[in-house]
Amino acid sequence: MSEKKTYYITTPIYYPSDNLHIGHSYCSTAADTMARFKRQTGYDVRFLTGTDEHGQKIERKAAQAGVTPKAYVDRIVAGIKDLWKQMDISYDDFIRTTDERHVKAVQRVVRQLYEQGDIYKSEYEGWYCTPCESFWTELQLKDGCCPDCGRPVERTREESYFFRMSKYQDWLIDYIKTHPDFIQPPSRTAEMLSNFLIPGLQDLCVSRTSLKWGIPVDFDPKHTVYVWVDALTNYISALGYGSEDDSLYQKYWPADVHLVGKEIVRFHTIIWPIMLHALGLPLPKQVFGHGWLVIDGAKMSKSVGNIVDPVRLCERYSSDAVRYFLMREMPFGADGEFTNEALIRRINSDLANDLGNLVSRSVAMIEKYFGGVVPEPGAYEPLDEALIEQAETLYQRVEKNMDALQFSGALTEIWKVIGECNRYIDQTAPWVLAKDEGKRERLGTVLYVLLECTRIVGVLLAPTMPRTPERIFSQIGVTDDALKTWESVQRFGGAKPGSHVHKGEALFPRIDVEKELEAIAQEKAAGAKPDLPAPQDEEKTVFTQRDLIEFGDFEKLQLVVAKVLRCEKVPKADKLLMSTLKVGDTERVVVSGIAKFYTPEEMMGKKVVLLANLAPRKIRGVESHGMLLCAANADESQLSLLTVDRDMEDGCEIS
Ligand code: MSP
Repeated sequence: MSEKKTYYITTPIYYPSDNLHIGHSYCSTAADTMARFKRQTGYDVRFLTGTDEHGQKIERKAAQAGVTPKAYVDRIVAGIKDLWKQMDISYDDFIRTTDERHVKAVQRVVRQLYEQGDIYKSEYEGWYCTPCESFWTELQLKDGCCPDCGRPVERTREESYFFRMSKYQDWLIDYIKTHPDFIQPPSRTAEMLSNFLIPGLQDLCVSRTSLKWGIPVDFDPKHTVYVWVDALTNYISALGYGSEDDSLYQKYWPADVHLVGKEIVRFHTIIWPIMLHALGLPLPKQVFGHGWLVIDGAKMSKSVGNIVDPVRLCERYSSDAVRYFLMREMPFGADGEFTNEALIRRINSDLANDLGNLVSRSVAMIEKYFGGVVPEPGAYEPLDEALIEQAETLYQRVEKNMDALQFSGALTEIWKVIGECNRYIDQTAPWVLAKDEGKRERLGTVLYVLLECTRIVGVLLAPTMPRTPERIFSQIGVTDDALKTWESVQRFGGAKPGSHVHKGEALFPRIDVEKELEAIAQEKAAGAKPDLPAPQDEEKTVFTQRDLIEFGDFEKLQLVVAKVLRCEKVPKADKLLMSTLKVGDTERVVVSGIAKFYTPEEMMGKKVVLLANLAPRKIRGVESHGMLLCAANADESQLSLLTVDRDMEDGCEIS
């Protein structure tokens, strides 16, 4: 017996700091659809997902929540697994970067790179973006902020280990040029070459001493491995790389494809291949950088406050409908707008109308004209043959699109056949044939053709919509598992005459668009926020004592009362307000991330607490001179400015 071909597919491992939103579900749904497709077509599939649990971001969130980082992530990881269950994400393994198996593998990788001279000790001085966990040079900053996410960066100076990326730069350029399929879509190849590789790679800082929540470098434990080196290693640590039992690694590596969002392509196509090459390991066959789900052109993200909760969507419309929308709406690789309206319209037109009607009409007519028993087909006419040809070859067009990760293209092909079937009903007009006893055989043929096409469509829908095919099969009377396979759609005529159809519920009930949008708006207005995550376990604010400091340390902070003279929004920055403050005889501008909590009008005249001697920083093009003190709860959903409760003059020192 010949061995099955293997297929190894991965999603990025998700940061567990936020509730995952529909944008995160996009990548997992794509990976799951592909994994199911490959299983259906006979591959031995390994589908990996997981969570990226270390780093400064998590360390801070946990400290704010007053729990250990591990306790903090455990709770969130459980929620992520629930979401994947609800969305039928059929992963074979879920790696957590806190897993012992992963920690060991990362330490081994770093040690090998160090021992072979690819890693050396020096000092890092530069900027760090905590939300992106990325290092930036002064020149790379955009208006003083992270060029990727636009948020403020922090100055860092610490002893670090560095990875000699520069040594491998020419090799990587050559590799990318000679392997055009490595980075997909091709536009991302051009981007990586022109933005990062051609200008020249700098050695990468791969350890930090200022961060404790991470994997210790085992030969120098005051150092913690840089989170991206830690995270990328998940793709092989999950396979047991470097452990006593590396049989999965031997079997599945190199990965067939890493699916990643476009903003993290550079980590996967620069750092990761260089790490692997330095370790003497083969590279993944492909890294596919998909686009983002956007709202009004902006990437969905918690900090922008425009996230859509996948749990709520699945509850409202079913996980299959949500999965269908995600895979159909935009070509994989491009950005796509998410709107409730677009989702509802797709459900109505594609699922309720096209697919739902095909199933219900075919079943209803077999019930009405043949007592629910699937008729034996007679001789096929040219009209039948044309449709049969379309249905019988559909699998080829689906496979071609799927192999190029063009989910939308594959579904478009399936919907063309569904459309042809509905047209065929109108052309053959079975209700007219039914009136003529002499046309009984013809009527049977027409209904058989329809039923068999519906079966083929049902089988091919399974990777995208795992629950719908069974609902179709039970209505059209397909019970034999052999009629639900990939092989079974390569030849027309599998459906068995004599079997019984059963009219069931509408597959996807039609939604009244106006009413639904109105209901969503009302819920939003009533505070139920249908697009926002339902409050899960609220993060409790627990106080934890930090390390003690000397009075001299405190004295370095110059805290003063300041009066807000003017305040306005920072253009093109939803979160930022720019306040002009009066401090004694002086005036200064301070930028603060409080626009979600205070309007500029509310700010006017407030007596606030200013950290006056903070070094000036440019934030979104505005130079900020100091910082307003605020209290915020653990998940930053509540925030309050510190003010003084008596009428103190601005400029008064606070001690
Ligand atoms: N932890 C890193 C990945 C490490 S992989 C070795 C990370 N995590 S993340 O949680 O921030 O993002 C995970 C994935 O979700 C990324 O591929 C990202 O592009 C994707 N998405 C997050 N928001 C998205 C949209 N709005 N739309 C589509 N995908 C988006 O990055």
